[in-house]
Amino acid sequence: MTLAELDAQQAQSLGEVAAAADAAALEQVRIRYLGRNGSLPAIIKQMKDVPQAERPEFGKHVQAWRMALEGALAEKVSGVGAVKKEESTFDCTLPGRWFAPGAKHPVSRVIEETAAIFSRLGFTVADGPDIENRFNNFTALNTPAHHPSMDASDTFWLTDNLLLRTQTSPVQIRMMTQYTPPVRIITPGRTYRRDTTDATHSANFHQIEGLYVDTKPVSLADLKSTLAYYAKEMMGSKAGVRFRPHFFPFTEPSVEVDFSCHVCGGKGCRVCKMSGWIEIAGAGMVDPRVYEHVNRARGDRAYAPEAVYGYAFGFGVERIAMIKYGIPDIRWLYENDTRFLSQLA
Ligand code: DAH
Repeated sequence: MTLAELDAQQAQSLGEVAAAADAAALEQVRIRYLGRNGSLPAIIKQMKDVPQAERPEFGKHVQAWRMALEGALAEKVSGVGAVKKEESTFDCTLPGRWFAPGAKHPVSRVIEETAAIFSRLGFTVADGPDIENRFNNFTALNTPAHHPSMDASDTFWLTDNLLLRTQTSPVQIRMMTQYTPPVRIITPGRTYRRDTTDATHSANFHQIEGLYVDTKPVSLADLKSTLAYYAKEMMGSKAGVRFRPHFFPFTEPSVEVDFSCHVCGGKGCRVCKMSGWIEIAGAGMVDPRVYEHVNRARGDRAYAPEAVYGYAFGFGVERIAMIKYGIPDIRWLYENDTRFLSQLA
């Protein structure tokens, strides 16, 4: 074979690559020239018959052909392959993909509804960090230094001073140290406790805190009417509230707040454990010692106990969600099962 014949065959093979219409045709070209019994291996086998003087030049041409052909094939295969793939994935007989419709999480819904209800009463939403210090979470809230809630077994301590807040109450302190009265806020947020998870407990849950402090008289009756309004807006117009005496370090007097059972209307059922009432919140009049801690932190007497009046309350968001939507197990709220969420949509 002469060099001219060799080059003619190269041109022929590249022409066939260019003309190949699909992947199968390209494969045929590859087999014809590069396959085990193809033209190129045969020519290489016959190299020994080429006169010695021409052999190096001949060898170079063979090598150049092989590279040109392999390059052309590779380029064409990727192009043809891509076209082919696109054509083959469009199947107009396939059913369409189903996207699960989204639903707002019950915890988010309770927080948003609560914020909307209290905003009608003049409350704004305040925020505080999940990582708190000892002063805001305990000391300023008049929690005695050796109170069990401060134990490492109840609280996630990060350092001697920092912890994951066990309640949203520290936001009360943050707001009062930052603003002068009147202060009227609610503050929803995550809280953390070293609780073992079961149907009614979770180490991470949400609370909504409320605080109203004014220089005009504010009484326990105002607190009760505010929470009664909230109960009706949240649970339905027949819902009522009752106060039971209780103790919290940061309020005096302190109460526990029950809503009348929205399921049985107070007659007694499984949801309210036959009592007609469901425990919802802790609340009370802000303790003078809390004001004094705030004043010391502020360096003034903007919250002089004899000159200000205020109440506070706090409740669990999951608890309200479970009662309102009839969810028997708190863990359902964290499992991200869309079948559960879509039922509430
Ligand atoms: N922080 C309390 C708790 O986690 C709830 C609470 C009770 C908040 C009374 C208040 C309050 O603001 O006045 O159990």
